[in-house]
Amino acid sequence: MPQFNDTELTAAVVRSFEETPDLRVKFLMEELVKSLHDFVRKTDLSFDEWGYAIDFLTRVGQKCTPTRQEFILLSDVLGVSMLVDAVNHRQRDGATETTVLGPFYVGEHKPMPHGTDISSRLPGERMFVRSRVTDLKGRPLAGVPVDVWHADDDGFYDSQKRSYEAEGPSSRARFITDADGRFFFRTILPCSYPIPTDGPVGEMILQTRRHPMRPAHVHFLVNAAGYEPLITHVFIGGDKYLDSDVVFGVKDDLIAEIEKRTDAVMPDGKPASEPWHLMTYDFRIKPGAGTAPKPMMAAAEPA
Ligand code: BEZ
Ligand code: FE
Repeated sequence: MPQFNDTELTAAVVRSFEETPDLRVKFLMEELVKSLHDFVRKTDLSFDEWGYAIDFLTRVGQKCTPTRQEFILLSDVLGVSMLVDAVNHRQRDGATETTVLGPFYVGEHKPMPHGTDISSRLPGERMFVRSRVTDLKGRPLAGVPVDVWHADDDGFYDSQKRSYEAEGPSSRARFITDADGRFFFRTILPCSYPIPTDGPVGEMILQTRRHPMRPAHVHFLVNAAGYEPLITHVFIGGDKYLDSDVVFGVKDDLIAEIEKRTDAVMPDGKPASEPWHLMTYDFRIKPGAGTAPKPMMAAAEPA
C-alpha cells in the first residue's frame, strides 16, 4: 500500500493519468493537478476554506441557466478569460488588439444598411460611428460582415431585458463593409455598467471590495473569410473605469477619443437634430483561419 505524504500524492495523481489516450488531455490534467496541489500546499488550505470553495463553486453552477452563465463571469472577473485571449494572440503583427467576447453576444446579427440607427431611438446622447476594415497592409476589405453590440443608457443589453423576446434586438446589428472597406451607423453613446452582481460572482466582487464596473464600450466582431476572426471592443476615451475594468479587458489601442460635434449634418450628409458624438475607429485584421465564436449565454436574467 503506498503511503502518500503531501508531495508524493501529487506525483501519484499525475501518474494516474498515464494511460490517457489523448496526449493533450493527459497534459492538461497533469498540469491542472500540479497547480491545484501547489495552491493547497502554498496556502495550507483549511477544511473550512476548502468547504467554502466547494460550496461557492456549487452555487456558481446552480446560478447557471440557459440565459445566464455564471462560470464565464467567474472566469472573466478572475482574469482567466483575458489570459486565454492573451496566450492565443501573442503575435498581433499590427492587427487590432483583441479582448473578451462577453456574455451578451447572441450569434449572427441581422444585416442592416449603413447609416441605420441601431438604438431604436433609445434615450441617450446620439453617436455616429464610422469605421473601416483593412488588412495588415492597410488595403480595404470589402464585403466583410461586422457584428456590433452595446449596452443602453442604463447599462443593460437588449438580451437582458424581458422585452427582448417580444421586441427583438436593439443596439445590435451586422454591417457589411463597402468596396472601400467602410461601414457606418448611428446609435447612442454607451455608458459604463456593472456586471451582474446578484449571484456568487457578484458576492465575491463585493466581499473583496472590488467594484463591478466595466468602462463604456461598443463590441465588434469582424469576421472575414481567410482572416482571423477579430473579437474586440472600442472603449470610450475618458471613462472613469478604463483603469479598473472588472474583467481586465482594456488595452490602450482600443480606446477611442470620441469627438463632441454640433455640426448640423452627420458624415453621411443627413441632418443632425441635436449635438452628437463621433466615434472613428478602423480595424486591421490578419490572415488566418478560425471559426466565429459561438454565442455565450446572456449573463443576467431579464431585468
Ligand atoms: C461585456 O462586455 O458585455 C461583458 C464582458 C464580461 C463580463 C460581463 C459583461
Ligand atoms: Fe459589454
